[in-house]
Amino acid sequence: MILPQLPLTDIHRHLDGNIRASTILDLGRAFNCGLPANDIESLRPHVQVMSNEPDLVSFLQKLDWGVKVLGDLEACRRVAYENIEDALRAGIDYTELRFSPGYMAMTHQLPIPGVVEAVIDGVQAGCRDFGISAKLIGIMSRTFGEHACEQELAGILAHRDQIVAIDLAGDELGFPGDRFLTHFQRARDAGLHITVHAGEAAGPESIWQAIQQLGAERIGHGVKAVQDPALMDYLAEHGIGIESCLTSNIQTSTVADLAQHPLKKFLQHGVMASLNTDDPAVQGIELAHEYEVAAPAAGLAAAEIRQAQENGLYMAFLSVDEKRALK
Ligand code: HPA
Ligand code: ZN
Repeated sequence: MILPQLPLTDIHRHLDGNIRASTILDLGRAFNCGLPANDIESLRPHVQVMSNEPDLVSFLQKLDWGVKVLGDLEACRRVAYENIEDALRAGIDYTELRFSPGYMAMTHQLPIPGVVEAVIDGVQAGCRDFGISAKLIGIMSRTFGEHACEQELAGILAHRDQIVAIDLAGDELGFPGDRFLTHFQRARDAGLHITVHAGEAAGPESIWQAIQQLGAERIGHGVKAVQDPALMDYLAEHGIGIESCLTSNIQTSTVADLAQHPLKKFLQHGVMASLNTDDPAVQGIELAHEYEVAAPAAGLAAAEIRQAQENGLYMAFLSVDEKRALK
């Protein structure tokens, strides 16, 4: 159950994994993108997970149409703005929206710094119009290699004042974190917070690497930490937050079913873990589903769900004053 007296946060939510099917249809027509379908219901299986995917990379392919239709910067601004409206509708008080500007820019060869600016603009306008709070996390998509990530980082750093953190997402098995040491050094030098997708497709060593070599303060997913008792202790002792995304972990076949998800073990071990969505439109879920359906199915008791909601606020990249101002 979501506690109404506590702020509701979603701190692991991909803006470019949450583009409405109706908007994909609309933009796909406007920019002549050769969409595989002409109406929303026929388009849905191309842009939404219908049954669990065999692995992370197949899951991520479901995000592709969302970015292929981004024909100009105004389209990027629109999807950013709609993301804030969607967050309001989902009952979210504060969200950290993450986005990969290089991935969004790729199909129509948009300028990456321009994409970053358009996203900032759309999110700011949305926050003004819909009255919720949001911060932005810049993603480097490891799937496209070191050089593409350098270009993403440069575009993000060009707007550093409007970005709170940097993340590494995409194909974790194919592109391990040690390829990106210099990128993270630059991000840390610029004073950005660090969160890294790790221990989702790869094992606990990927989480150690994210913490010790990339400087991660939080970990996206972190599912495989449960295989390493020393890592579980380290996460708890050092307050490294785990951004859990239950349904996503099932849909990527990271975890076989919710009853086997380690979130309950994290909480029992004193690891700070929160409930988040990941890519809500692609997954066909919203945050309430994670609290009301997925978390109970993962064996969480009411007090543990409450703890996860508190942890979301605690883990947020916000100052103490900003946290107090939320509710
Ligand atoms: N993992 C890695 N990259 C991603 C994900 C994910 O779950 N969602 C969107 N990009
Ligand atoms: Zn993610």
